[in-house]
Amino acid sequence: MAAALLSFATTGKLSAQDGKTIYNKWCSGCHGETGAGDGVGAKTMLPHPRDFTKAVYKIRTTASGEIPTDDDLRRIVEVGMPGTAMPEWKSRLSAAEIGAVVQYLKTFSPNSFKGAAAKAIAIGKAPGGDGVADGKAVFQKLECYKCHGLAGRADGKSAPTLKDDYGNPIRPADLTENWKFRGGNSVSDIYTRLRTGLDGTPMPSFQDAVENKLITDEQLWRVAQYVHSLSPEKTPESREVVRAALAQKLPATPDDAAWATVERFWIPVVGQIIAKPRWFAPAVDGLWVQALHDGRSLALRVSWDDPSKSPDPIWDEWLGRMSKTLTDVDGPLATQQGPDRLVVQWAQNPSDESKRPYFLGGDTKSPVYAWRWSSEPKVEEGSEAGLGHFTALPNGSVTQSARYADGQWQVVFTRPLASSDTTKVPRFGEGRAIPIAFYAADGSSGEDEVRGAVSTWYAVYLDVPTPTRVFVAPIAMIALSAGLGMLLVTRAQKNGRANGATDSSPMEER
Ligand code: HEC
Ligand code: HEC
Repeated sequence: MAAALLSFATTGKLSAQDGKTIYNKWCSGCHGETGAGDGVGAKTMLPHPRDFTKAVYKIRTTASGEIPTDDDLRRIVEVGMPGTAMPEWKSRLSAAEIGAVVQYLKTFSPNSFKGAAAKAIAIGKAPGGDGVADGKAVFQKLECYKCHGLAGRADGKSAPTLKDDYGNPIRPADLTENWKFRGGNSVSDIYTRLRTGLDGTPMPSFQDAVENKLITDEQLWRVAQYVHSLSPEKTPESREVVRAALAQKLPATPDDAAWATVERFWIPVVGQIIAKPRWFAPAVDGLWVQALHDGRSLALRVSWDDPSKSPDPIWDEWLGRMSKTLTDVDGPLATQQGPDRLVVQWAQNPSDESKRPYFLGGDTKSPVYAWRWSSEPKVEEGSEAGLGHFTALPNGSVTQSARYADGQWQVVFTRPLASSDTTKVPRFGEGRAIPIAFYAADGSSGEDEVRGAVSTWYAVYLDVPTPTRVFVAPIAMIALSAGLGMLLVTRAQKNGRANGATDSSPMEER
């Protein structure tokens, strides 16, 4: 594509006509040819692609209700909107191409953009000193928790009732995962959003609170600093191997203080878009995994954010709105809330590195060994031959202990390392990387055994009592990090071709 536009790119000048060409090629699949946000597959995404004819934009440096500046539009096209289907474009389009497509976007709502250009509001500088405690007090005073929850995990009382200006359900931002903020996660990005609000969403502007002297400008900065402090200092990187350190005694419950000192590993999960029904709007986006063993048993604590303890009647309204909004999926959503779910799947034969089962719950030729947990709460041990095709084993030896608090599940699984039948139940050997993968679903969002979020294969490595060699991660592990989404997509395409499927969604084109 760059080649076709090279002649323009070298002169650095592109016209609105070029903007249209770029738009039709790269953007219309989601945003629609007329800019109405109705591209192929738009209705499978949450949030839906923006309708440009309305000229309502979330990420601006302009006051609430105003159009964005050209720079605002350019920046969002460059970096994309994390946590949504909106990709970044700066690795694919030149600055001139992005400039041209931005000019073209404005032609979808000529009346809104015809007057004088909008002006960015003046942003001062963050006050020095530690204001996190003050920020927390102001967070309470401004009642941010009503939507975002007391711990910031998007589980506030109002969360199940929230909808955007188009009537679609909208989740408040999870303030403990700031790498998914649409408009950036620096303190000044957050402060800017608090001044401008996110137009078209229930996220208000707090400009009035300052103007009416309910709080000072400095206090608004303190809230931004407090919000920033709720997430890890650095965006967690997913590593391929979860280390199970050796412990004297295994913590049996999720709230045992011993877990606080155990290293935690971030495992991203993405919507299951391969087996039908596919699911492009996953509620869970990652899991924190910790592991310990004492030479006899393995204990695994999995923690993930989920704003509802499903099923919960106060989320009925939300589920109704979900099923009305996500109409383009493969068949209707469940009308009743199921439980929350977590499936921990293991390679049945961990010693055979070359024969890792299919990551979506294995298949009939090569099933996976699985722990199927649901929020009743209970866990079953068995084998899975494809997503949702689960057969329980008699005399399972895995146990669970679960806790739900402040928008988060924490589940501890414990199982002896030994196995009496290694053809069905892998032995957890020390000094070895055992392949593991995850599936998570939120019952209140209509998710079930197939609609949910999946990871690819990772591994759990059990420390040896006296290390005799330096630990090296097995090279055979699938390289992950940024590649996860791509990997799923590539597989989806392969799968699609293999099945002779012709349907393609915009996500698969990425
Ligand atoms: C795979 C689907 C997809 C593609 C392709 C895509 N977008 Fe988006 N875009 C989205 C979604 C979804 C949103 C809404 C995200 C949200 O509301 O949080 C969005 C939002 C936007 C916004 C609104 C930003 C704001 O502050 O509200 C702009 C501008 C935008 N896209 C421009 C583009 C341009 C330009 C292209 C092509 C170069 C493009 N998009 C391609 C899915 C896509
Ligand atoms: C009425 C509900 C509501 C209230 C009250 C509310 N928010 Fe939000 N907030 C939302 C929603 C919904 C979103 C997500 C919008 C979206 O999907 O892009 C959001 C998004 C955010 C974001 C992410 C911005 C980004 O770039 O994506 C931050 C940070 C935030 N809110 C902080 C706050 C703080 C701090 C307060 C209190 C001063 C507050 N919110 C009050 C509903 C609310």
